Amino acid sequence: MKQLKLGTALTDGATRALLLGSGELGKELTISLQRFGVEVIAVDRYPNAPAQHVAHRSHVIDMTDSGAVKQLIAMERPDFIIPEIEAIATEALAEIEAEGWCTIVPNARAIQLTMNREGIRTLAAEQLKIPTSGYAFAESFAELQAAVDAGIGYPCFIKPTMSSSGKGQSMVKTPDRLEQAWNYAKSSGRVDTGKVIVEAKIDFDFEITLLTVRALNESGNIQTYFCEPIGHVQENGDYRESWQPQAMTPAAIKSAQDIAAKITDEIGGLGLFGVELFIKGDQVWFSEVSPRPHDTGMVTMVTQKQNEFELHARAILGLPVDTSLQKVGASAVILGGIDAKGVVYEGLARALAIADSEIRLFGKPEAYVNRRMGVALAGAETIDEARNRAVKAAGLVVIKPTF
Ligand SMILES: Nc1ncnc2c1ncn2[C@@H]1O[C@H](COP(=O)(O)OP(=O)(O)OP(=O)(O)O)[C@@H](O)[C@H]1O
Ligand SMILES: [Mg+2]
Repeated sequence: MKQLKLGTALTDGATRALLLGSGELGKELTISLQRFGVEVIAVDRYPNAPAQHVAHRSHVIDMTDSGAVKQLIAMERPDFIIPEIEAIATEALAEIEAEGWCTIVPNARAIQLTMNREGIRTLAAEQLKIPTSGYAFAESFAELQAAVDAGIGYPCFIKPTMSSSGKGQSMVKTPDRLEQAWNYAKSSGRVDTGKVIVEAKIDFDFEITLLTVRALNESGNIQTYFCEPIGHVQENGDYRESWQPQAMTPAAIKSAQDIAAKITDEIGGLGLFGVELFIKGDQVWFSEVSPRPHDTGMVTMVTQKQNEFELHARAILGLPVDTSLQKVGASAVILGGIDAKGVVYEGLARALAIADSEIRLFGKPEAYVNRRMGVALAGAETIDEARNRAVKAAGLVVIKPTF
């Protein structure tokens, strides 16, 4: 077995990781990498993003600007480039990967495939024959109307092919609302690809994130490991609450793991993936996959022996992983509730007086009404109790403008 060599941060022999995107997930990943002595460089489009509070250094650039990304990578010469967000100049990553001196996590193709719904959906449904909702792509309102009439039907979801966190996405229940959804998707995508995806609505019992890890085993071969399923609630395309483990039938668990293994095998590389699935009884549909820690997976900070960030760090570095669950737990997001530059947090003492609760404040310099500013976590004997505790703790944190 090839032995991994790790350097010492801030010395000539340092093992360096460059994060493209420095949000709350990147912040926890930075801490996990630093526990192995890795030098972490945090990049974002604005200064003082969460991971930049804890990284060794940081840079502010436009990550969709291929030239700027390449210039920064040439200057920092990282061993690993870890994309945390989807809006990145992926062609620059492909070029760097081809040069062969640095690892894109998990690989450049994965970043390219998953940043565009068309890439990953076509791969899953058409190449790998994985069950998904009925779907079609449209480049004009007429094409969209035709696809819905030809079989997608109502209700359906209209989404820009490049967007995340529910941006530009809407559910349409009746024909008279279709044009409005088209205009909304066209105007609020992250990058206007000129295309939308329309998906038939899956009538699921619940949805899960199946955290799936590709890591080296004792013999030095890549093995796929699964965490216990994470159940979650989404509102306007963004997650509000998650819990672990989500109870599922043995047949549904098996299908979910088969689907996750199939898609992550095809993507390849080392690291943790968030596989989003819809479940109804024994039936499972693939929705999408993130080749990185998942927001709903923040619950693992209280539930697992190694949380999703530690798992990602270990997998990337070629170290062994343990995905076992230690206790039942839940997370609930703390939203800004106001638009303000500079905020203060009140109510922490009351929130933390709740049994087995924890609060993470991300340190974002500005609040928006729907911006995730922190998360409440709680362990308990049952899922219901854990959810109650997390929601209550989140609700007790009050965000106010500094002045
Ligand atoms: N075809 C569908 N059938 C039923 N529900 C859906 C469908 N598509 C999306 N949803 C609902 O909307 C949520 C967000 O959809 P999706 O994950 O595609 O968007 P997103 O913008 O990538 O969100 P995020 O970045 O938060 O994962 C899903 O988690 C699910 O609750
Ligand atoms: Mg999603």
